[in-house]
Amino acid sequence: MLVKNLGKFLLSTALITGLFTSLISTPVQAKSKPSDPKYRVKTIAHRGASGYAPENTMAAFQKAKEMKADYFELDVQMSKDGELVIIHDNTVDRTTNGKGKVKELTLAELRQLDAGSKFSPQFAGEKIPTLAEALDQFRGKIGILIELKSPELYPGIEEKVAKELKKRKMHRPKNEKIIVQSFNFESMKKFHHLLPEIPIGLLTSNKNDLSNTKLKEFSTYADYVNPSYSLVTKELVNQIHKNGMKIHSWTVRDRNQVQPLLNAKVDGIITDYPDYVPRNKKK
Ligand code: G3P
Ligand code: CA
Repeated sequence: MLVKNLGKFLLSTALITGLFTSLISTPVQAKSKPSDPKYRVKTIAHRGASGYAPENTMAAFQKAKEMKADYFELDVQMSKDGELVIIHDNTVDRTTNGKGKVKELTLAELRQLDAGSKFSPQFAGEKIPTLAEALDQFRGKIGILIELKSPELYPGIEEKVAKELKKRKMHRPKNEKIIVQSFNFESMKKFHHLLPEIPIGLLTSNKNDLSNTKLKEFSTYADYVNPSYSLVTKELVNQIHKNGMKIHSWTVRDRNQVQPLLNAKVDGIITDYPDYVPRNKKK
């Protein structure tokens, strides 16, 4: 009996010690200090701090600010009556209690939906924000990375977004605190002509978009090439830099994805969890 109890005691001590050791040795931050002291990666909270609050809501943007992210990212689309709203999918089904296409619902109908409860009951009552609301609330307080989501579905969306920025005199952003990006390169070319002082980002998950020939062409109107993290290599980062652009990579949802991006020296990491990126720990 005594031997059995002693065995149990030793086993649980070993387990607790092991657990403690792994807890204190796993944080990415400890080993992620870059060798170049000047290197400082930007943290971009994806759809807001969407690991901690419902994506693309004011709560998620506020959380990004509290977590001291450099930017939050948001997705802009257009309602049936031509208002700019912030939501990722082309339908409201996944993130709200409603059903239907964003472009077939009016602003009033969209605003009635609950965009928080599906994430957690704690966020019940969160609304689909308008772009105007997010700009008014957060301008000058945190950088904003505006994605035009599926602009091909919304003719004229570039002009409308440009108008919102101009109205607030945000079309000459200091320190690149506003960036506009899209997977739709034609839309970004158009946006560049509308507001040439706004930095443009091109999103891609396609390796073929990253040849040197393409990068050269992109550099005529874009400032950022933002690929999926799985496409990032040191060589690619160097190539983008040589073409005079920067790189913000997405979407980090696992701590282990951070270090390879830091090793490659990306300029920014787009993540649901801003605290996964060094020097941006959750408060
Ligand atoms: O900012 C990058 C990222 O937002 C692109 O993918 O689908 O989350 O809009 P998605
Ligand atoms: Ca997005």
